[in-house]
Amino acid sequence: MANMMYTAWFSNSISPANLLGILAVISYILTLLPTSLRVVFPALKKAKLPIELLKNRRQLGILSFLLAFGHAWLLVIKRNFDFFDLSTYRVYVHGSATFIIFTLLAVTSNDWCVKKMKKNWQQLHQLTYLAMFLLFWHINDKMYGHWNFATPLTIIGMTTIIILFLRRWWLERQVKKPQKVKEQQLLG
Ligand code: HEM
Repeated sequence: MANMMYTAWFSNSISPANLLGILAVISYILTLLPTSLRVVFPALKKAKLPIELLKNRRQLGILSFLLAFGHAWLLVIKRNFDFFDLSTYRVYVHGSATFIIFTLLAVTSNDWCVKKMKKNWQQLHQLTYLAMFLLFWHINDKMYGHWNFATPLTIIGMTTIIILFLRRWWLERQVKKPQKVKEQQLLG
């Protein structure tokens, strides 16, 4: 039984649409990786890879958006999407929501928007972390029961980046706590 599942798993080929989705996920993970790595493993602050990834984060984000666009476009054609049917959005809620976030982030990824939007820009770009959870849900839901050999790799990649993010969030909270207490003591 296990052997049959194993064989079926490897014989599922990857369609061009899926390949674009997988490449989109890889470039997206690369946009998230440097900040979390530097907070969780401070020794890596001077390492070359996180620095290079940070420098090219904007380009990687736009690349990820373009790949995701190709992925969604091919699947919209293949599955004959009915945009006027609400159940379409129910079935693809995670994919569509992720795609909307990717679009917002890609169109505002330029110096002009950073200057004009000021604090709002940073707040808007926090949506990337919501996209991270939505994407994890999307891949698990859409690939349920018909994984190919790349599916576990994307799931492992997404799980790793989520764990790193949660660890970073927790560490940053620990640093902020005493700061808040100090502020309150000064005020009170
Ligand atoms: C409107 C937006 C989207 C739609 C309609 C959509 C649709 C789908 C569908 C139908 C599948 C299952 C394919 C199959 O059964 O073989 C799928 C899988 C997948 N999608 Fe999306 N998707 C969307 C957005 C995204 C975005 C934004 C990303 C990445 C950033 C993404 C990444 C993936 C990945 C990695 C898989 C699994 C591929 C595999 O393991 O072979 N999708 N998507």
